[in-house]
Amino acid sequence: MRVITYGTFDTLHYGHILLLERAKALGDYLIVAISSDDFNETKGKKAHFDYEARKKFLESLRCVDLIIPEHNWEQKRDDVVTHKVDLFTMGDDWAGKFDFLSDLCKVHYLPRTPTISSTLIRENLPK
Ligand code: CTP
Repeated sequence: MRVITYGTFDTLHYGHILLLERAKALGDYLIVAISSDDFNETKGKKAHFDYEARKKFLESLRCVDLIIPEHNWEQKRDDVVTHKVDLFTMGDDWAGKFDFLSDLCKVHYLPRTPTISSTLIRENLPK
């Protein structure tokens, strides 16, 4: 079973690791699409680490099999088809938002880990 998930994964943290391990456990091959720096800019979001650094964090995780860039909101349907994805998953802060993919693959939301986020970490980093 091939699984895909999306995110920025800035300042890689405990909540990300738990999400990715649970995503992998839903199948046996995990694809992670990381928001590109340009895409984050269009969302009005500024990551502390650039795309290459965020990719490097994820490459060091055993549960991640393939990393691809996310350039826009519209590419998900193409990604699911291109990478023969069986299951799309995200944290439940996105619950319902990607149900439109359910004609192509299963869609499943995982409970988000409380009390930790990239925003919280960024706010506490020295400027
Ligand atoms: N996630 C999670 N638990 C957390 C934080 C994130 O399960 N405490 C999940 C999100 O639901 C998403 C994935 O990790 O499926 C990537 O989330 P991302 O937005 O990159 O991380 P956040 O820490 O939520 O970042 P931000 O504060 O910038 O929104």
